[in-house]
Order: sequence, then structure tokens, then C-alpha cells
Amino acid sequence: MLTRLSISSHEEVYRVDDAETGLRGFIALHSTRLGPAAGGLRMRVYDSGDAALEDVLNLSRGMSYKNAAAGLPLGGGKAVIVGDPAADKTPALLRAMGRAIDTLGGRYWTAEDMGMSPADMAEIARATRYVAGRDQGRHASGDPSPVTARGVAAAMRAGAARLWGSDDLNGRHVAVQGLGHVGWHLCRILHEAGARLSVADTDAARVATTAREFGAQTVAPDTIHAIEADILAPCAIGGVLNAETIPEIRARMICGAANNQLATPQDADRLLTRGILYLPDYVANGGGIINVAAEILHIDDRAAWVSERLEAIRARMDDILTRAAGVAVSPNVIADRMVEEALLARAG
Ligand code: NAI
Repeated sequence: MLTRLSISSHEEVYRVDDAETGLRGFIALHSTRLGPAAGGLRMRVYDSGDAALEDVLNLSRGMSYKNAAAGLPLGGGKAVIVGDPAADKTPALLRAMGRAIDTLGGRYWTAEDMGMSPADMAEIARATRYVAGRDQGRHASGDPSPVTARGVAAAMRAGAARLWGSDDLNGRHVAVQGLGHVGWHLCRILHEAGARLSVADTDAARVATTAREFGAQTVAPDTIHAIEADILAPCAIGGVLNAETIPEIRARMICGAANNQLATPQDADRLLTRGILYLPDYVANGGGIINVAAEILHIDDRAAWVSERLEAIRARMDDILTRAAGVAVSPNVIADRMVEEALLARAG
């Protein structure tokens, strides 16, 4: 069922096939230097097998960075299933994926990602214990989104302190792009902190609800990045910081939950040149994996453990921004370097 592929950038990569259930996918362990490789299971339609492989390789590498930046004793891994979650997902297929994960003996831990739900994780758990992101059970972590939003807000305070000399968000104007699981919680936290909100989503009902609940100004989704605001918080999709949008951004700082906000590495330099402070996404949005890690690591005092690590996100962001300012490079480059140093230190 598992065929090992030889890919030099990663410790272990497998193709997963199960004719009986129609399962096709990949599992990639980028690094286990800091601990078992952890990262979610994604199910989606891909144009080709190569595209699915490329996705799992990129995502698992990204998880090594995210887990290290969150200070967790976890490496980076990811799994993908090729198929339409609405049409092709069956309990038997999920259990087959669970059996594949189980054969890795705990070197890879899976959790929810795109196309997956806590109920799917429960199905997978019938075939393996190496699964988190469930909503039932002693250490179940449930929806990570509120914790992700708390981490983003903590990171934002680090950025505010650097830019304006105070981490108080009272009166700051934040433009929030995307009002889904994380975006809504972020709006709630910012509203409680006294921030002024402008919000956008492609889903008009979400915009209306959020505007009503938090007295937010509504903005069209294609212009939210360009409004006059102190902070832009991308909480929808990746690639929103690119050659077209960056010249239009008027916020002084960017800090949000979306993964892979920069379309290309050059976009970090574009932001630097424009004097816009970009807070690395994978550091700011580490709250979600911290929440999942509490389940993987069987933490009993979850609330205190999570809070401590969210504070550490703030401290790490402070450190990244201080180092970046000292050498006038993008905070993104500094964050990558810090992770690479941590991984190398373990290798030695
Ligand atoms: P979600 O799917 O609940 O919400 C995304 C929202 O963005 C939806 O309301 C959608 O209508 C909206 N949207 C889509 N395209 C848009 C556009 N072009 N302009 C404005 N709004 C648009 O997703 P969730 O869970 O809130 O995650 C948001 C982002 O944060 C994603 O990039 C996700 O990968 C990332 N993330 C989420 C974590 C979590 O704990 N849920 C953890 C770490 C990262």
C-alpha cells in the first residue's frame, strides 16, 4: 500500500495506493529532527499526481518551519488524498489512510486540513492512534481557530510595539480580509481590545454578521488590501501579497492567519522596500498547531500550556522584528534563518 519514493529534500516520502477503497495520495516527512513529523491531511482534486506530490512536499517542509517557529518538539510532515472530498470521501477510504499512517509507527502524526473534519479524524482514529484534531476524547483539541486568532493578535501586539512604541491596539484600525473560522475570532479579540475594524469576505452573509457584531465597516473583497488602515490582516487565502497588490497597500503592518501570504519570496523584499512591516505568517499563525500539539503530546493542563506558548509567539516575533530591523532585511528571512539554525543545532 505504501511505496517509498526517493526524494533528497525529505527524510521519507511515500505514495499511498489502495485499490479496494480507491485511495490515492502521498505522505511526506520533511524532518523529524525536533520530534515526530506533524501536519494535517488535505483532500482535494489535483490536476495530476505530480501536482499532489509537489503540494505534499511543500506543505510538509512548511510544517517543519511552522512547528519549529512555534517552539514545539515536533517535526514537519503532511499527507494528501487525491480526490473530491464532497464526492470521493468514504469511511473505508479514511480508514485505509489511517492504516497507511499507522505503518509509520508514530513518525508521522496527522490532523485536520482542507477537506477534512473532526469526524473524519475520528474515522481515521479507528485505524491509527497517530491522529489529532478530534473533538471527542481526553486530550481532544477541537477547533484550533480561536487559538490561531489569539496567536495572531499576540503577534500583532509585537508589531505594534515595534512600530508605534506601544502594544495597545485600542484605536488602531485593522483591515481584516476573510471572516471565516479564524477571521471572525480575530475580529472579536480586536474589537474587545478597542480596535476599529474594516472587514471583507466573498461571503456577503459573513460580512453582514461581523459588521453587526463588532460595529465594523464593510469593504469590497477586492479592495480591502488597499484601504487606509494601520494593519492589514489577511485571513482568507494565500498569495494575497504579490506584485499587483503590494504597490496598493496603505497599511503600515501586515499580520494575519492565512498561510503562504507572500506569492513569491521577492514579495517580502517588495514590502520591505515600501516600508511595510510584514510579520511572517507561519510564526503569527502558529496557534493552530500549538492547539493540535497539546493533543499529540497528551497535555493535561491544556489552557495554561497553550497560553504559555502563545506568549512565546509574541516573544519570538519581538526577537524576529528586532533582528530584522538591525540588518534591514525582511522579518520573513530572519524567521527562516532562525528555524534553519534551530534545525541545524539539532542535527549536530
Ligand atoms: P475559513 O475557510 O473558515 O475562512 C476563510 C474565509 O475567507 C471564508 O469566510 C471565505 O469566504 C473567505 N474568503 C475566501 N476568499 C476570499 C477573498 N478573496 N477575499 C475575502 N475573503 C475571502 O478558513 P480559516 O480556518 O478561517 O483559515 C483562514 C486562513 O488561515 C487560511 O489560509 C488557513 O490556511 C489559515 N490558517 C488557519 C488555521 C486555523 O486554525 N483554522 C491555522 C493556521 C492557518
